[in-house]
Amino acid sequence: MKIAVLPGDGIGTEIVAEAVKVLKALDLRFELESAPVGGAAYDVAGHPLPEATLKLATGADAILFGAVGDWKYDTLDRPLRPEQAILGLRKHLGLFANFRPAICYPQLTHASSLKPELVAGLDILIVRELTGDIYFGQPRGRRTAVDGHFPGAEEAFDTMRYSKPEIERIAHVAFQAARKRGGKLTSVDKANVLETFQFWKDTVTEVHAQYPDVKLDHLYVDNAAMQLVKAPKAFDVIVTGNMFGDILSDEAAMLTGSIGMLPSASLNAKNQGLYEPSHGSAPDIAGKGVANPLATILSAAMMLRYSLNQAEAAARIERAVDTVLSQGLRTGDIWREGDTRVGTVAMGDAVVAALSAQG
Ligand code: IPM
Ligand code: MN
Repeated sequence: MKIAVLPGDGIGTEIVAEAVKVLKALDLRFELESAPVGGAAYDVAGHPLPEATLKLATGADAILFGAVGDWKYDTLDRPLRPEQAILGLRKHLGLFANFRPAICYPQLTHASSLKPELVAGLDILIVRELTGDIYFGQPRGRRTAVDGHFPGAEEAFDTMRYSKPEIERIAHVAFQAARKRGGKLTSVDKANVLETFQFWKDTVTEVHAQYPDVKLDHLYVDNAAMQLVKAPKAFDVIVTGNMFGDILSDEAAMLTGSIGMLPSASLNAKNQGLYEPSHGSAPDIAGKGVANPLATILSAAMMLRYSLNQAEAAARIERAVDTVLSQGLRTGDIWREGDTRVGTVAMGDAVVAALSAQG
């Protein structure tokens, strides 16, 4: 089992180190190889996704990814910015299926900005299409407008598009996920305005014929955003396009109180996957040893389950995380009066200790 380890920027290096520590504490044999990515790669190789890093990722069974980005790269040309590394990995590896669970741990119900009764027991899954939509649609660019409100003015444009097979394959992934969970799928679109999302809705409805055991409903994205804060527990699995999924997954993450707790998985047709925390590189707290490593540790658990066929080891890590939360250990993002405040390394150590206490 070969794992490419790409820590990236900001807190990425600190949190990935803890996840690697947890992986090494399992009695499994992995081959781990690291490479720079994002701003860190730009600094040493002049490109956020150097050829060698892409090669390592392509040849691995799974990729453990930290985070990329820092203000100091904001003035670079777009193709050289750290974010291009993650977009490039998604595109080159065909990682079209992005799983973003939002789970509210009972120990952390207080950390949510919503009333505890709205989020207690929350367990939803967002399935975001990750390689199409307006993120990757061509053409895009800048030009002089020939029509519209201001002919002759400078304008910018992007293209929203989805092909039928692209919608079908993510729909299958989502129906299968729903079948294994609560049996309910909500497809989110903007079919009232956008041709692309009328097509999305029609195609998801067609695929539904093969999953009569799953209950399907459709919501417009604006309404979905509202329902997520009104009654989040009414959802089970949500499937949507790349951009709506980007936005709704941040919203869903915050329902749980801390984005520092949430893992994610991005898979291709070969079950090769990239695993990363749902949060970013947090340059404001980088290097201080205070970042919450649990999202990355839980991402490593998802990696064991989805790409490495080690469901039992994955469940052990998840139990160990539950144990440290029950022990009252908290990084700053989830801390409140009465809890034991710990840093990044101490949190990782506690997970390792909880693992070995399982015998
Ligand atoms: C995410 C991030 C990325 C995205 C950025 C960093 C390109 O926000 O993974 O959600 O928009 O997909
Ligand atoms: Mn995002």
